[in-house]
Amino acid sequence: MTTREFEGRVALVTGAGSGIGAAAARLFAERGAKVALVDLDEAGEAVAASIRKAGGEALFARADVAVDEQVVAAVTAAVGEFGRLDYAYNNAGLSAPPAHVGDMPVAQWRRAIDVMLSGVFYCMRHEIPRILESGGGAIVNCASGAGLIGFPGQAGYVAAKHGVIGLTKTAALEYGVQGIRINAICPGTARTAMVESVVKETPELDAELRRLHPIGRIAEPAEIAEAALWLCTERSSFVLGSALVVDGGYVAQ
Ligand SMILES: NC(=O)c1ccc[n+]([C@@H]2O[C@H](COP(=O)([O-])OP(=O)(O)OC[C@H]3O[C@@H](n4cnc5c(N)ncnc54)[C@H](O)[C@@H]3O)[C@@H](O)[C@H]2O)c1
Repeated sequence: MTTREFEGRVALVTGAGSGIGAAAARLFAERGAKVALVDLDEAGEAVAASIRKAGGEALFARADVAVDEQVVAAVTAAVGEFGRLDYAYNNAGLSAPPAHVGDMPVAQWRRAIDVMLSGVFYCMRHEIPRILESGGGAIVNCASGAGLIGFPGQAGYVAAKHGVIGLTKTAALEYGVQGIRINAICPGTARTAMVESVVKETPELDAELRRLHPIGRIAEPAEIAEAALWLCTERSSFVLGSALVVDGGYVAQ
């Protein structure tokens, strides 16, 4: 079932060139929103073009979310083109080769924190004033199951995702009463480029990932995107400062 429940609204999605972000951008557009796709990679333009081809309205703004000046330029481009901002899904993220803390290169640690924690802060910093101008809306920040539990070999990723949940709760407390519902989402493993690249290097991981998810499989990107979009609808009108787990039971074990 598709509805046009976001008609007249504008959504910004980071990391929209691939995986869960691309799925979220497509779903926003199918449901009537004009969509600003932000990504470091030009793949975001191909996704935006496919949305326009399907009759939607979409623009691509190339930006590194780890750079505040690039984030403000992307948000300004979105509001300049579409006139307002109602929703943001701060989803950009990256994986890195496994390394235990004692062996982790400082650059790897810094990039994880810069992109997946500071990047979410920069995005919200510029999105919030524009969403307030629109009379309120919703922000969804992408954490992870690894935002709730540890994961050996991924200290930077895990620390960034734990941080996103704390950042989300604090911003939710600050802006909920002004009409911006801010929540985080904690996906389990989804079949995206990030995961495919790791599985390619370690083929035995495929069966291991299925085993780790009590539901017996990993997610399709759209299953995660659906939950992120739900957090932007009126049907989640009393949900604030939550870290919504969408993980096939992974952290329930
Ligand atoms: N796929 C999973 O299993 C899984 C599980 C839990 C959480 N997540 C989270 O979901 C989000 C999306 O992941 P995905 O699996 O769709 O990954 P993906 O690799 O398919 O897509 C990530 C996108 O983010 C973009 N990106 C990376 N760094 C960026 C930066 N600095 N600035 C702007 N864009 C940047 C990439 O270019 C890419 O298009 C990430 O935050 C990830 O941590 C994914």
